[in-house]
Amino acid sequence: MASSATGSSFSMAALSSACFLVLIGASTSAQLSLDHYSRSCPVLFPTVRLIVGAAIAREARMGASLLRLFFHDCFVNGCDGSLLLDDTPTFTGEKNAAPNVNSARGFEVVDQVKLAVEGVCPGIVSCADLLAIIARDSVVILGGPWWPVKLGRRDARSASQAAANESIPGPMSDLNELISSFRKVGLDVRDLVALAGAHTIGLSRCANFRDRVYNDTDIDVLLAQVRKFGCPGVDGIDDDNLAPLDFRSPLTFDHSYYSNLVQRRGLLHSDQQLFNGGPTDLLVKLYSRSPVAFRGDFVASITRMGDIKPLTGSNGEIRRNCRRVN
Ligand code: HEM
Repeated sequence: MASSATGSSFSMAALSSACFLVLIGASTSAQLSLDHYSRSCPVLFPTVRLIVGAAIAREARMGASLLRLFFHDCFVNGCDGSLLLDDTPTFTGEKNAAPNVNSARGFEVVDQVKLAVEGVCPGIVSCADLLAIIARDSVVILGGPWWPVKLGRRDARSASQAAANESIPGPMSDLNELISSFRKVGLDVRDLVALAGAHTIGLSRCANFRDRVYNDTDIDVLLAQVRKFGCPGVDGIDDDNLAPLDFRSPLTFDHSYYSNLVQRRGLLHSDQQLFNGGPTDLLVKLYSRSPVAFRGDFVASITRMGDIKPLTGSNGEIRRNCRRVN
């Protein structure tokens, strides 16, 4: 009884903060706005949605991969489309940085979206904004919450592999490292716990959970046993074998990620750090009980993530092809 009362008051808080955020986005945001392309590209949203929907219909996991691209873009010098730039003989970008190489995927879908949007509104919509809309549509299509996407970002003319290696937190991170990497981009502990819920969809490679299933002690014995099958305990062997981050429902954006953590069934070491006797346990418990609280906070936090250091005004450019500067 007491816990459901707590859950519902949190839910109200989450709901009202989401509404408040919508109002701010609509009226006072100095840089990004909800109606940025409403005149210049009125068919933007249905165009993106069509391509993303088709990609996820072909392969449901793609929704997870596309959501992750937005995170990996925003954490490296802001949401500026820098992740999407290909390496050239004179330029080393982010795609081959450690967190992305053999891992970040979905770039072809971003190309398809860009091509379609250039077809209806040439030279208008940035790749950075497309990543934000693609991420939202992916979450919605897989059963998660909808949110209004703030737009008006412009595209970077450069990218930094070193910054990608430095800024994207790794799966071996402990809680303090996770908190500090989020704090560096202006996000707080609540943002960390809410955004980590993105691991309710998608897959991880064995290389990223091997150490956890063989060496961690805060892991459910059965989960460890099952995951060892597909992931031999020797570095370099079957590194790319895949397992779901959320074993219950890897293709549905729900809140079961948090119930897994409460049962010590987080797949990554960094996941389980959020429920390990520390200060984030309470939030994990809340989200495990209340899908409404999770959805409200996820929307608020991913909106904040999308606000990280956008290029606006005369900074950056609107790329014609997301893979290279104009
Ligand atoms: C909190 C720190 C985080 C860490 C340490 C982390 C780490 C990882 C790792 C190691 C993988 C597996 C990659 C692979 O094996 O190829 C992964 C997958 C994924 N991550 Fe995160 N992540 C974090 C936060 C986030 C956030 C904030 C989001 C989005 C808002 C996100 C979305 C995803 C998704 C959707 C996948 C599955 C991708 C796919 O199936 O292609 N992650 N993450």
